[in-house]
Amino acid sequence: MKALVLSGGRGTRLRPITFTRAKQLVPVANKPILFYAIEAIRDAGITDIGVVVGDTAPDVMAALGDGSYWGVSITYIQQDAPLGLAHAVKVAEEYLDGEDFVMYLGDMLIADGIAHFVEGFGQAQCDAQILLGHVALENSIEFGMVELDASGNVIRLLEKPESPPSDLALVGVYLFNANVMKAINSIEPSPRGELEITDAIQWLVDNGYCVRPHIVEGWWKDTGKLDDILEANRIVLDTLEPERLSEPGTGADLRGRVSVGSDTVIENSLIRGPVSIGNGCEIRDAYIGPYTAIGDKCRVVGSEVEHSILLAESCVEGIGARMTDSLLGVNAAVHRTPMLQDSVRVMIGDNSEVNLGQ
Ligand code: DAU
Repeated sequence: MKALVLSGGRGTRLRPITFTRAKQLVPVANKPILFYAIEAIRDAGITDIGVVVGDTAPDVMAALGDGSYWGVSITYIQQDAPLGLAHAVKVAEEYLDGEDFVMYLGDMLIADGIAHFVEGFGQAQCDAQILLGHVALENSIEFGMVELDASGNVIRLLEKPESPPSDLALVGVYLFNANVMKAINSIEPSPRGELEITDAIQWLVDNGYCVRPHIVEGWWKDTGKLDDILEANRIVLDTLEPERLSEPGTGADLRGRVSVGSDTVIENSLIRGPVSIGNGCEIRDAYIGPYTAIGDKCRVVGSEVEHSILLAESCVEGIGARMTDSLLGVNAAVHRTPMLQDSVRVMIGDNSEVNLGQ
């Protein structure tokens, strides 16, 4: 079996971070989301992985390389425009070469992996299997929603409906055999102009092919929005295995599960885990609160930061207030100039700078 990871598309909901960065490379607990996908696939025993890339191809290729770091082999497939998930499968037709494959959306996190889902697909003589999860009905507009009949058979799939037929959403992991190509070649683009995998699966259902649902038990997250990324960061940090590659300096108080990278200086600061701090950081006269992930070469000086993600080389200095629920892009800086309120919430892009008023 092969795997197809979709890592093209546009990250419009995470702008400005995604103006300069693939949304699949935004880190959760200091690791790009896409790495979790590769690990989940590898842990399911699949080593032949195709990665569909778009405009951000150079970044994705630089991050994943040839896959040897994970013991897998990666083939890149260029999609010239983000014309839909089914379109991405179509451009990968030659790579897939008629084999069964698991399709995995590259901005998705799933706590328990996909080994249970993938197991036995070949023997089941089914044409497709879809991973479903329960969501709040008001969030149906963000997902493909699925209706099952009383016996648990898939009967209807709708992409981002306002009135969902159930609370079951497509999580973003699918299993297909070669028949999905017949479906993709038979459907038309949706009103939003995309060739939808949801429509291809509906075509399989309508034409008598076997489509089997599998309901996910554990936690999963489509990380398309800031709040989702922060929640994913919180949940993954909760399972953090702390690693200390630098010794704490004078006045550093590290409590709970705190990971510290190499060449990182922590002085006169309280770090209350779970927290992950990268390599080459400077943390002075600071408080770093739970559920914070700080990338490489960041500076937090004279400031409090909690429940936030700082990408590499970003800086929080002298803000005199607690920064919370925030995402700082690469090389972004927040300084206090004059006074404001006692809390700050920002989402700023790479190379941005925020100076707070008096
Ligand atoms: O998160 C689960 C949902 O993912 C499903 O419930 C929906 O049925 C499915 O359509 C999808 O909706 P999203 O709006 O989240 O899809 P998004 O545009 O974010 O694309 C998902 C991934 O696929 C993302 O990593 C980008 C990539 N992609 C997307 C498109 C449209 C491509 O590689 N090529 C594309 O053409």
